[in-house]
Amino acid sequence: MSTVETQPELTEAPAGGSILEVTGLSKSYTTTGHGTTAIEQLDFSVADGEFVTVVGPSGCGKTTLLKCLAGLLEPSAGEVRLRGKLVTAPPPEMALVFQDYSRSLLPWLTVRKNVMLPLRVGRAEKHDLAQEALDAVGLTDFADGYAWQMSGGMQQRAAIARALAYQPKVLLMDEPFASVDAQTRAELEDLVLRVRREFNVTVLLVTHDIDEAVYMGDRVVVLSSRPSRVKRVLDIDLPRPRDQLTTKSMREFVELRSEIYQDIKSESKSLRGGAVEVGVEEA
Ligand SMILES: Nc1ncnc2c1ncn2[C@@H]1O[C@H](COP(=O)(O)OP(=O)(O)OP(=O)(O)O)[C@@H](O)[C@H]1O
Ligand SMILES: [Mg+2]
Repeated sequence: MSTVETQPELTEAPAGGSILEVTGLSKSYTTTGHGTTAIEQLDFSVADGEFVTVVGPSGCGKTTLLKCLAGLLEPSAGEVRLRGKLVTAPPPEMALVFQDYSRSLLPWLTVRKNVMLPLRVGRAEKHDLAQEALDAVGLTDFADGYAWQMSGGMQQRAAIARALAYQPKVLLMDEPFASVDAQTRAELEDLVLRVRREFNVTVLLVTHDIDEAVYMGDRVVVLSSRPSRVKRVLDIDLPRPRDQLTTKSMREFVELRSEIYQDIKSESKSLRGGAVEVGVEEA
């Protein structure tokens, strides 16, 4: 395990070559009248095949960051590059999974049709890609049921399958398990870790849950309170494959989560005079 304070030189591409580079990224909103700077001068990169988790205080700008990475929002300053190419619109190599599965699926379509919907290939290939993704997330037997008939966990698995069927190089996930119960959340975490290996995809996952960030990531990017900056980057050298019981009981795991907790607690204090809104019990 190694822990690293964020310094400019630490934002250089990790060994193995970076697929995603974020440089001086800032985003301000002016629609609120007085203006809000959500993120300011963010610098970090993600290596090809890496699993990076991003954690930060509530409202610090995590969704704003993902939307900028996905080409859905134009940065106020700085840039995002995917394989060296400037991102100015949603790149075909990226897929995004949102927190709220109920708004990302069309309830009147079957799960299979929801997965096939965004694919722009021939019908047979669409079917094969959807089938492979549905198999990977364990929805083979439910593929022809309607989305509205599925439980919350199954709908979120369908949303993940839809992203995988798209065969992205980079999968962006915005608090993807926040709306499901704890047991389903643990299952979905393990499912994403498995499909990440099977599909060889680079993942950037935003969460407010510190345990989840440490459990899933190769590195954790800790954001400061708004306007958000990169406060710290931690390497997570916990062995893989990870296991909900053994990994979370390791001394290194406990140390990392409490370090991040202290970081975010100090950020939340400076923002709200002591309130902490992060998904871990105080150690
Ligand atoms: N479209 C918008 N117009 C104006 N302000 C916005 C807009 N979207 C977000 N903001 C503001 O930007 C800041 C960051 O919002 P954002 O949703 O990115 O934070 P977050 O870290 O994802 O929050 P949460 O923890 O609640 O998911 C907030 O103060 C929010 O009010
Ligand atoms: Mg958000």
